[in-house]
Amino acid sequence: MSKTSHDQYRESVVGRADVADTAQLVAYYEQLEKLATGALWTIANKIEPWQPKSTSVPIVWRYRDLRPYVLRSADLVTPEKAGRRVVFLNNPGRRDVSAAVGWLYSGLQVMKPGELASAHAHSASALRFIMEGSGAYTIVDGHKMTLGANDFVLTPNGTWHEHGVSSDGTACIWQDGLDIPLVNAFEAGFYVVHPELNQAITFPVNDSTASWAATALHPQRAKWTKPYSPLFKYEWGPTYESLCRYARVTDGSPYDGVLMNYVNPLTGGPVMPTMGASMQLLRPGERTRAHRHTGSFLYQVAKGSGNTVVNGTRLDWTEHDIFCVPSWSFHEHANASQFDDACLFCFNDLPVMNSLGLYREEALGENDGHQPILE
Ligand SMILES: [Fe+2]
Ligand SMILES: [Fe+2]
Repeated sequence: MSKTSHDQYRESVVGRADVADTAQLVAYYEQLEKLATGALWTIANKIEPWQPKSTSVPIVWRYRDLRPYVLRSADLVTPEKAGRRVVFLNNPGRRDVSAAVGWLYSGLQVMKPGELASAHAHSASALRFIMEGSGAYTIVDGHKMTLGANDFVLTPNGTWHEHGVSSDGTACIWQDGLDIPLVNAFEAGFYVVHPELNQAITFPVNDSTASWAATALHPQRAKWTKPYSPLFKYEWGPTYESLCRYARVTDGSPYDGVLMNYVNPLTGGPVMPTMGASMQLLRPGERTRAHRHTGSFLYQVAKGSGNTVVNGTRLDWTEHDIFCVPSWSFHEHANASQFDDACLFCFNDLPVMNSLGLYREEALGENDGHQPILE
């Protein structure tokens, strides 16, 4: 009999595949293999687990560790040669697809004053969350936006975009978040470099926020038919102010504290069809209860310090750190300060989970909703 085991996924549970290898069956499997086929019962329990089994590892990327290497890349390569000068987050369980978690990519990009990267477009949707520096700007389809710390910016699927830092600015670092692994999983990725390398600015600077960021007010004549938000920049000031105002009138969620989603102002839905984003506030001393849900989540600490327990692993974080919560992992957050609030920016693939009908959520029932910490 062949040494290859075909029955390693057997489960002695009614309704599940439970076929032991025999010489006759193994010979049959080998015949099937020659025809580029296989017997489903040999792999059914593997490809249809009882519940999602993420290969992503819960991990925190500490900014104090990464920052020197991100800055060093500015001395080692030019944006012209590198295209984008980025240190990307390579989850140990997702190296095969270069993902930070699940099907989401993330990296830290640096640009020096006076630098301007070439314009390009791709099928992957992208977002940026500004970490430090002054003078950064992004141009998306002719709309130029000036950027400051904790501003959140969209560069949706198919838009021409380029990033730069004005010559009177300082070195700027931001997080890029993209759905590249997801788009690649669908084998649907295209990439184009702008024929003139840079695009013209065809609208007044910051017109996107001037038009669409007003609370509950929409411009009379502006038309928008694209599948993503017409608001490309969500500024930190109004975002934090909105969270604080909301925190005064709500207890928030037992799992998330006070959380607000960044939305497309026209639909109230996610900012882009494949990726959503949120900002949440944990009150001084707040410790949330654990729950789990489908979808992959990448958090960046916008303010404060604390910890998040993911499937029993405690991830301690402080400002600018990035950490992930893989799909169907129990997670709970705690603010370490008794005096200051903590804010977590998050982007995720929830729009995909929701639009494909794959979202599930479950609270941790035991132990008062808190996970035991694994050593
Ligand atoms: Fe890009
Ligand atoms: Fe959650």
